[in-house]
Amino acid sequence: MLEKHKVLEKNSILMLVFIVIVVAVGGLVEAVPLFRIETTIEKVKGMRPYTPLELAGQNIYIRENCSVCHSQQIRPLRDEVERYGHYSLAAESMYDHPFLWGSKRTGPDLARVGGKYSDDWHVAHLSAPREMVPSSIMPSYSFLKRQGVDLTRIKENLKALRTVGVPYTEEMIVNAYKDAITQADPGVDASGLTARYGGKVNVRNFDGGSEMVSEMDALVAYLQALGTFADIKNYNPDLNDAPAPAKEAPK
Ligand code: HEC
Repeated sequence: MLEKHKVLEKNSILMLVFIVIVVAVGGLVEAVPLFRIETTIEKVKGMRPYTPLELAGQNIYIRENCSVCHSQQIRPLRDEVERYGHYSLAAESMYDHPFLWGSKRTGPDLARVGGKYSDDWHVAHLSAPREMVPSSIMPSYSFLKRQGVDLTRIKENLKALRTVGVPYTEEMIVNAYKDAITQADPGVDASGLTARYGGKVNVRNFDGGSEMVSEMDALVAYLQALGTFADIKNYNPDLNDAPAPAKEAPK
């Protein structure tokens, strides 16, 4: 046996061929099972796509590059779970395109920040972080309140996300603009919006300001939604009885 191995060790090309074979077998053992299962995402109840206004807020979050200082992934480590809550589940970011897990925490993790503070707190904090947290190094985003949110392409945004598997229905797409305006206006009938996205959708004047639906409205709507969809309290990874996440966009 050792004699035979000598041949391999003395011939680098032969050695290379054998290395490639060994690595390929190892790779196949890892990869093939993944192609045979429908999804690697554990199911969890309650997940829904973002409403158009939340989506517009996410776009602002991306534009302002908040992920440069904030992560959106709670790791299953004791200190993180005690500080931020249940560790993040894959299903919780399955409708995020791109996902915003981030890799840097200059500020705290935001995966479960929804509902932690009031809208007023967020508006005050985003406008002047040091008014709320004197030692903060977060920049001020007060301009967001003065700028109307750009909804001109919100319909196309939903459509694009549908092509990558987010289950937006035709009705959601047709009503995207209207739903975005409705969510920031507690004065109008929001039954259409809540019928499409569920009764738990926050319908409020998020920035507490004028009639205009501002970028602040959208960003706060997004922040208040973060981590609030999945039914974590009743989550049991062993049961996995929730409906399967949509694999293909509904036609
Ligand atoms: C330069 C780094 C930096 C950037 C960029 C940044 N933040 Fe922060 N953020 C922080 C720090 C540091 C804190 C903690 C101190 C504080 O509360 O202000 C924080 C705190 C927060 C909190 C409170 C979190 C909690 O649980 O207490 C929220 C919400 C938040 N940031 C949202 C945002 C959003 C939205 C953006 C983008 C528009 C953003 N941040 C951009 C550094 C940053």
